[in-house]
Amino acid sequence: MNNIILLGAPGAGKGTQAEVICKELNIPTISTGNMLRAAVKAGTEYGLKAKAAMDAGALVSDDIVIGILKDRIAEPDAQNGFILDGFPRSVPQAEALDAMGVQIDKVIEIDVADDTIQKRLSGRRVCLDCGATYHVDFKPSKVEGVCDVCGKPIVIRKDDEPATVKSRLETYHKTTEPLKGYYEKQGKLTSVKGRETVEETSAAVMAALKA
Ligand code: AP5
Repeated sequence: MNNIILLGAPGAGKGTQAEVICKELNIPTISTGNMLRAAVKAGTEYGLKAKAAMDAGALVSDDIVIGILKDRIAEPDAQNGFILDGFPRSVPQAEALDAMGVQIDKVIEIDVADDTIQKRLSGRRVCLDCGATYHVDFKPSKVEGVCDVCGKPIVIRKDDEPATVKSRLETYHKTTEPLKGYYEKQGKLTSVKGRETVEETSAAVMAALKA
């Protein structure tokens, strides 16, 4: 079974590496951030409740996030393994995952310094339609401003404004980083340095998964 958690600060490269692992291991990525953005876009009840917290760079309440995660991991395509990107984000969320009886095999932390994060997020572009992620310097789309995957426009994510990034980093250090100790105690954590390029980081992540 390949039930994998990707841990790391906002902009550490979780979504980028999830795309690579997903192709290599043929398992789905479950991104709570993408699911919440889809709910906001669709104007669902969950989406309306989540929007204010997301815009402010704060965490969405556990009852919403745990609810959508529980439904998603019960789907047929997740029965042979999955990559969790953005969940859990706090010790209570990790405890909720354990209480659901979900066996986690590996937790990979992508470790990137805060000043590098600020640079990465200022150059990030995303497709609001299919969720593909780009960077103006490190991972440009083939045609400027257009998604390689679905041909729709790519834009700056609303929560990538510098002030919001600062709040997201504070939330990460205070609430999410303690998960490193939580999974270290369980013998599941491997830390990988986020490298200069996407490819170098992928090689380190895949090596950690195969170790
Ligand atoms: P979410 O969407 O999960 O955002 P995040 O964790 O802040 O992570 P990001 O998506 O910003 O970054 P990433 O690590 O995936 O980096 P990426 O690969 O894009 O969550 C958004 C919001 O939803 C939260 O703030 C919260 O409100 C809510 N939420 C979600 N889950 C929740 C939960 N469980 N509980 C409560 N609330 C929740 O890479 C970043 C950029 O860098 C890209 O441009 C990329 O091309 C570039 N890049 C990546 N790797 C490299 C590299 N090695 N070298 C150079 N450039 C690189």
